[in-house]
Amino acid sequence: MTGGVAITVLCAVLGPGEADVVRRLGAAGSSTTVTRRCADLTELLAAAEAGSGRTAVVSATLPGLGREAVARMHQAGVRVIALDDAPEASTDRLAAIGVDGMARSLTDLISVVRDETARPPTVAPEASEPPATAAGKGRLVAVWGPVGAPGRTTTAIELAVALAAGPPVTGAPGKRSRGEAAGRGGLLGKAGHHGPRALRGGAGEQVLLVDADTYGPCIAPRLGMLDDSAGLAGAVRAAGMGPLDVETLARYAPVALPGVRVLGGIGRPARWAELSGAALDAVWERSRDLADWTVVDTGPVLETDELLSYDTRAPQRNAATLGALAAADVVVVVGGGDPIGLQRLVRGLDDLAAVPAPVTPDRLVVVNRVRAAAVGANPRTSVRAALARFAGVDPHVVPDDPAGLDAGLRCGRALSECAPRSPVRAAFGALADEVRRMVRARTSADGEESPWIALPERMRG
Ligand SMILES: Nc1ncnc2c1ncn2[C@@H]1O[C@H](COP(=O)(O)OP(=O)(O)O)[C@@H](O)[C@H]1O
Ligand SMILES: [Mg+2]
Repeated sequence: MTGGVAITVLCAVLGPGEADVVRRLGAAGSSTTVTRRCADLTELLAAAEAGSGRTAVVSATLPGLGREAVARMHQAGVRVIALDDAPEASTDRLAAIGVDGMARSLTDLISVVRDETARPPTVAPEASEPPATAAGKGRLVAVWGPVGAPGRTTTAIELAVALAAGPPVTGAPGKRSRGEAAGRGGLLGKAGHHGPRALRGGAGEQVLLVDADTYGPCIAPRLGMLDDSAGLAGAVRAAGMGPLDVETLARYAPVALPGVRVLGGIGRPARWAELSGAALDAVWERSRDLADWTVVDTGPVLETDELLSYDTRAPQRNAATLGALAAADVVVVVGGGDPIGLQRLVRGLDDLAAVPAPVTPDRLVVVNRVRAAAVGANPRTSVRAALARFAGVDPHVVPDDPAGLDAGLRCGRALSECAPRSPVRAAFGALADEVRRMVRARTSADGEESPWIALPERMRG
């Protein structure tokens, strides 16, 4: 108890024991007072958000109690204490969803509620979690571009394949070629505890390709997978209700290309509400344990809906895109190589700079489908000159190759398998090398961040 003020408690306990909990917490002389008895989670959340109490006492089995609900109560400044009195304790699940305290009996509960200094429980390491240091974890690359880019999805797929193929041959003894690395990486069935390799370079780099576009999700059908698999939505659901271990995440993300697992998007854009909230952040975090590289294909819109509706509780249409950008180690920005595409790209770079969430300054700009028919003779030079002038960046230029890309669409494969000589494939290989360089530059030998290098120089293709 602080300064003689009683701790206000919102009670959402199930079953006949509820009356006892309320009686004990409200007893005369106790430092706690029950301000609301809630029948279910909806009522509890409403009371929490109305400021009716500063501690919530909930049954561990309260229907709907998950990461999202706990996050909402935390946002409202409410501590969450779970009464977990079933014979079998749910400690791991409760810790994973973020509760601040747990009690196995009514007596325990009273003391946990009274102890306002109690810290959130330590999350027990999940069985499959490797003892990785931050530097040893996988890296996340978000691929974003304005409306009608075109090429976010193509970039994400081809970048994923190029990263899985491993770094280029340097001639150093023991280094593998891209081809060898891809062969090994693709067949590793179990979750990769190989994060540190991504920074050292070497064989068997594993990639997780995620479709987080809530407007035009299409990675699964593009790669010949079942359209309705919605792996990302499944992983978010699993993360919402408890710990998301690497094996579970891997189950939602089958290996679809050599070295590349795919977490498919929502089959229909109408399902966008499934991709938001605290559980989505948990998926990004766990993906770093599953793969050396996570490549996220995002939607084109960056608006934060809550600024429009003033309703911070509403699911956010663009949460998946904004969350991926906030989690990213490198952001790849894609625009189209025609006058409209370039104009949108220049504005898009401004929009990205104005995103309220902190987004890494490590960005690479790609101009896709660069062709003389759209921008005149010497398209490469004119595109680079235009972007240098209007955005101060030097982009990676990817040529137009309708025949190669159409072959990919026809077979549902990446260029490496159906049009290996496509110049587009080579351009994305160079982009992957630049992504690796950028990550390496950020992670100096002693683990400190390297000094910022001027953006245009780093964007050289
Ligand atoms: N470099 C390219 N050359 C030719 N066609 C391309 C190229 N890049 C993408 N495409 C084609 O453009 C279309 C849209 O690309 P996509 O990657 O799906 O864009 P987005 O995800 O931005 O909507 C696809 O049919 C794709 O095959
Ligand atoms: Mg797309």
